[in-house]
Amino acid sequence: MSRCAWLACAGLWLLGGSVAAQDKNPYRNYNEQKFVDNMQSAGRNYAAVNDFIAKTDYASAKAQLTRAREQLAVTVQFWRDVHRKDDAVAMLRTVLAGLDDLDKALGAAPVDAAAVTARVGRVDSGCQACHAVYREQDASSKAFRVKQAALR
Ligand code: HEC
Repeated sequence: MSRCAWLACAGLWLLGGSVAAQDKNPYRNYNEQKFVDNMQSAGRNYAAVNDFIAKTDYASAKAQLTRAREQLAVTVQFWRDVHRKDDAVAMLRTVLAGLDDLDKALGAAPVDAAAVTARVGRVDSGCQACHAVYREQDASSKAFRVKQAALR
């Protein structure tokens, strides 16, 4: 059995550590396109949640909500790590807490439809609060995009 010299071992350990740290850093490549992809996916999943709620299929709504929450939660990287916008982080946290409350209401036995509706309303106004500040619509194409002026 061969043993490496102490320094070489320490060097390998340091090298291994920094390579691992790079691989594990999920924020490195979180750009605007990824933000838009995650946001649109969250939006699609959340729309599906509402469709299931309308059909009183609460179990499916709850399952779909997990996907919506996951997709929305990762967007924190855009506000916290890329742009350092504390107000956006706070608005996002409010929405995530609202989604957790909705999740609980969907899991109640029996489900209280009025409680579900109230929580959906709270989530929706949370989404809109951020959209009002950080989203804008292209005048001709009507497409939505990140409001660059608000990021500065
Ligand atoms: C912290 C800020 C923030 C929060 C909270 C937020 N969004 Fe967004 N959202 C944005 C920004 C900025 C855009 C514009 C970029 C784009 O079009 O993808 C956007 C775009 C979208 C889009 C795609 C374009 C459009 O507007 O139709 C959907 C869908 C969407 N959001 C859904 C939601 C839903 C549903 C919620 C709440 C459950 C939510 N968002 C919460 C910031 C936010």
